[in-house]
Amino acid sequence: EKGGYDYFMLKEIAEQPKAVADTLLGRIDASGSLTLDEVRISASELREVDKVVIVACGTAFHAGMIAKYAIEHWTRIPCEVELASEFRYRDPILDGRSLVIAISQSGETMDTLMALRHAREQGSKVLAICNTNGSTIPRESDAVLYTHAGPEVAVASTKAFLTQLVACYLVALYLGQVRGTKWGDEIGAVIRDLSHISGEVERVLETMEPVRALARSLADKNTVLFLGRHVGYPVALEGALKLKELAYMHAEGFAAGELKHGPIALIEDDLPVVVVVPSPRGRSVLHDKIVSNIQEIRARGARTIVIAEEGDEAVVPYADHLIRIPATPTLLQPLVATVPLQVFACELATARGNEVDQPRNLAKSVTVE
Ligand code: F6R
Repeated sequence: EKGGYDYFMLKEIAEQPKAVADTLLGRIDASGSLTLDEVRISASELREVDKVVIVACGTAFHAGMIAKYAIEHWTRIPCEVELASEFRYRDPILDGRSLVIAISQSGETMDTLMALRHAREQGSKVLAICNTNGSTIPRESDAVLYTHAGPEVAVASTKAFLTQLVACYLVALYLGQVRGTKWGDEIGAVIRDLSHISGEVERVLETMEPVRALARSLADKNTVLFLGRHVGYPVALEGALKLKELAYMHAEGFAAGELKHGPIALIEDDLPVVVVVPSPRGRSVLHDKIVSNIQEIRARGARTIVIAEEGDEAVVPYADHLIRIPATPTLLQPLVATVPLQVFACELATARGNEVDQPRNLAKSVTVE
């Protein structure tokens, strides 16, 4: 049932191009418009929405962080994202014009369920993004957009994460379409790029051998840091989470701009630091800033592992290890940038003799608060 792979996680990483394509299937029509009929919240209600609030846990929370960038950029609706376990305890401000999005692979995560119940009690509409048909979270929501990742068996989430991202982009674009905001050339181009993205994920998977070799060479390290900016920041957090849960290593993700406010003190000789570099096209300010961050940490001894777009030459002099990913629009980059981090964590866990599919102390769905 592992389809020839040693672990479910390897199989599920390999299934990502299909999972992404399946989640897009039937949702973009020939004219490039979105048809999300499943989202049973009327267009007039969606036009009234004045705030989007995303609740989720763990990896799904990282998808939510990325969704915030997309929703605010494409729709100009203010968007908050919060850990489900924190959400209802701070008496959040919600009403009938708030759209709450609950993201959950299993559909059974208790913290996320309690957060959505709280939101509905305040009169907010809840849209679930979920991978498990008929599970509790979609049953208790006003509407659901299913991710079509197929069953995810490995405890560490991989293909579900990529499909959560796709679903978040679809919701963001759909909100933009319904409300007529920013529905110009940029959105059309994004939809085109999204419809080709599964091929790009496939290309990333074909180039992972050096990442595996690198991971094996770091098996006796104690700490790995991850840095990113903009949507690369949640990707850095996700890379760190995968490494913690699989390799049982101290791993932390930081917003690269925060380095100088404390974390740079952690940098020491030969400390591996993975840096997710935004596209040099588009928001080039971000790119320039992260190149200086890479220089800063390298000058202090860090061993830099740089994930950068093909054709990005500016990073080459400062990268001890360079992992190439295909060029994508900035907001979509997490779909390709996360894949090497999954492979990295999986291989490091294997090299350290850990049980990849069933890490210690973890359960696939967390049905207690
Ligand atoms: C990490 C991981 C967890 C889940 C989290 C939420 O690899 O799998 O962090 O993402 O427990 O689970 P769901 O999405 O089922 O609500």
